[in-house]
Amino acid sequence: MFSKIKKDELYQNVYNGIWGGIKTDENIPIYAPLDNSFIGYIQKYSKNDVDRTIDNSKKTQVAWSETPINERAAILHKAATILEDHKEYLAELLCKEICKDKKSSLSEIQRTADFIRFTADEGKHLYGTAISSDSFPGYKKDKLSFATYVPLGVVLAISPFNYPINLSASKIAPALIAGNSVVFKPPTQGSISALHLAQIFNEAGIPPGILNTITGSSSEIGDYLVTHPSINFINFTGSTKIGRHIAKIAEMVPLLMELGGKDAAIVLEDADLEDASSDIVSGAFSYSGQRCTAVKRVLVMETVADALSEMIRKKVEELKVGSPFEDVQITPLIDNKAADFVQELIDDAVQKGGKLLIGNKREGNLIYPTLFDYVTKDMRLAWEEPFGPVLPIMRVKTIQEAIDIANRSEYGLQSSVFTKNIDKAFYIASKLDVGTVQINNRTERGPDHFPFLGVKSSGLGTQGISYSIKAMSRPKAIVLNFENKIE
Ligand code: NAP
Ligand code: G3H
Repeated sequence: MFSKIKKDELYQNVYNGIWGGIKTDENIPIYAPLDNSFIGYIQKYSKNDVDRTIDNSKKTQVAWSETPINERAAILHKAATILEDHKEYLAELLCKEICKDKKSSLSEIQRTADFIRFTADEGKHLYGTAISSDSFPGYKKDKLSFATYVPLGVVLAISPFNYPINLSASKIAPALIAGNSVVFKPPTQGSISALHLAQIFNEAGIPPGILNTITGSSSEIGDYLVTHPSINFINFTGSTKIGRHIAKIAEMVPLLMELGGKDAAIVLEDADLEDASSDIVSGAFSYSGQRCTAVKRVLVMETVADALSEMIRKKVEELKVGSPFEDVQITPLIDNKAADFVQELIDDAVQKGGKLLIGNKREGNLIYPTLFDYVTKDMRLAWEEPFGPVLPIMRVKTIQEAIDIANRSEYGLQSSVFTKNIDKAFYIASKLDVGTVQINNRTERGPDHFPFLGVKSSGLGTQGISYSIKAMSRPKAIVLNFENKIE
């Protein structure tokens, strides 16, 4: 099935149901972050190729929107099954292409199959409303508004490298069930895995043109793509820098954006420190910290700070470092540039007097798990998103100080509060300027039918299965005007 994508060493795009339907002169090589070994080429689309692709998506969308939802749902169910059937193969591909450890890679695939099935079922229950006029002052009972959900048209889905299957499917599946066609632009590093996902949807029966893919250099076609007049919605996950740029140039096109984060874990005196330290370590270091929702700072009451930092240190010491194909938690970062950035933040903390508890060791793009205590507000690590395996602990004297530091961030994705006192937990949660507060757990997105959103520079709009479907639909009202009497 996947052999359709590949011609010699080239992983092609799908255009109108045909892999390699658009030929390119130039291609982009993709290498494995683990050992720089060559994986394959992807196509480098030009602006003209983008035009052809989007025109095709626009033309084909109408028939798809008229396909009964139960038929669209059946195709998604089939896609979920095909995905599951190829779990092992795809997980190995993720290990190779984005250096995600095998266990997390397998979990990404399974979670995606579950996501697609749930989306298919949820789409079938997207009911509209009928509203009578007489509830509004001055109106009689002589009008009925029938509002049903209709698709927006062509959805542009842009996903990041860290979940090339899951964060792609979480855009594609809700867009498709709502009746949109999708132009899918995967991350360059991650695109080979993502193209496999596109083939799974096509194999499941998505009609030609309803899911087209675009690969290429973002600096050459990115702006052109997001400002294309036939794009009706942009669903983007990635960095705040790129998200902000797209929001500026996209003008009137509606956006759903999930961006960066600097999630704080607030630990109070009465917290179960053993549990909190486990959650914090898994939250901060899984997939080497390359998760938007990773715990990116700990704000701990100074009375329990010594005990907590020692527990965290011990658990960090136990993290396994190595190849993604083995049973490890820490693998090399996506590229050297990412590792250079993390190293800059570490160097800054060392230079400004942060207490290094463990780590600060680097081999190429592999950064060993690194933990700092006594991080202060003048250090970059207190505010910047490393997207790597480094965790700062900041000691605070009061709950108010913790809230102030947590909120003094450009980001507002999630926060955790660890305490046994439910009143304090709810008080703090109500004061935190974030999309979600986790009480006694690490910060994380799932389960995927929960609302997932960021405030401030962490995003626009809300994801989560039913939220995503609604975001990519709009109400269409048809008003019946009638005489409410018989002569
Ligand atoms: P990124 O550099 O912003 O890239 C994200 C996507 O945007 C990629 O597909 C990229 O393509 C594309 N892109 C870049 N420039 C573009 C342009 N001008 N127009 C259109 N598309 C463009 O992010 P990343 O490094 O892949 O992911 C890491 C970041 O994403 C972190 O900041 C993380 O916090 C954030 N993230 C947030 C969430 C969330 O749900 N809040 C989830 C995951 C990740 P190329 O690869 O070709 O450049
Ligand atoms: O990287 C961003 C993802 O939305 C995080 O998802 O919390 O399930 O790892 P996760």
